[in-house]
Amino acid sequence: EIEEYHMKGIILAAGKGSRLYPMTRPVCKPLLPVYDKPMIYYPLAVLLQAGIRDILIIIPPGEEGPFYRLLGSGGRFGVHITYEVQEVARGIADALLIGEQFIGEDDVCLVLGDNIFYSPDFESYLQQALRLGQGACVFGYYVDDPRAFGVVEFDAEGRAVSIEEKPRQPKSNYIVPGLYFYDNSVMEIAHNLKPSARGELEITDVNLEYLRRGALRVVKLDEDFVWLDAGTADNLLDSAQEVKRVQDQTGRYIACLEEIAYQRGYISYQTLQRHASDLAKTLYGQYLQCL
Ligand code: G1P
Repeated sequence: EIEEYHMKGIILAAGKGSRLYPMTRPVCKPLLPVYDKPMIYYPLAVLLQAGIRDILIIIPPGEEGPFYRLLGSGGRFGVHITYEVQEVARGIADALLIGEQFIGEDDVCLVLGDNIFYSPDFESYLQQALRLGQGACVFGYYVDDPRAFGVVEFDAEGRAVSIEEKPRQPKSNYIVPGLYFYDNSVMEIAHNLKPSARGELEITDVNLEYLRRGALRVVKLDEDFVWLDAGTADNLLDSAQEVKRVQDQTGRYIACLEEIAYQRGYISYQTLQRHASDLAKTLYGQYLQCL
């Protein structure tokens, strides 16, 4: 009953956040606030919205305590959360190897701990990805300067033809954000990866292998889709402002885990109200009380 889609969820939240020193000396990056919630709430919301309730969070060494205090084993949100430590930053694709036992024979959705996704139509995008069957599904998001990301090029028919990691001369403005859906063949692909020039197991190489096999679907996200990467001080501030702007404008909360859990039937109304009264001094709690 837990694995509605036979799909497991992994959040890679193991970045120490050296680009955010000194803020991340006492508190690791995924636990820093993005406006009114810890950063990890945003990728966790993506998994909950996708109906994925069996979740592995990969964390930096020595951070079990703080993560556990925040999220515990997920019962508060009607999901099941376990943790693994990534000792050395070996790249995003290393998350699949760390999660091998957890993934088992299932499909997997991998989301990066500092990526924020928001759209009123998000659930319909997720449905497209979840109807995966075989192969992989990733997304394409238009940005002005794609050089810091994985960049996907499309042909005239809108099919993906190439993906390059941090190209100097990008072939398009579409980047691949940190949300990846894979069938179980990803394990065999991950085991055959070689470290890149920067010494990492690149998620772009995983996606390229699916592309070579003719098994990669790239869904373009539309213009009003909000995608944010909160990895640097400027991005963190921009992300916080954007979350506030959307929430103020729409009167809806982004990544409100209790709300998603309640709406999807993971927790009861009674449980929701109990959490709401704990948070009653905050706007977030007052929002919950009104659901
Ligand atoms: C990583 C991926 C890149 C992706 C980006 C999204 O970049 O390598 O393909 O577009 O996340 O945030 P990194 O965080 O390693 O710079």
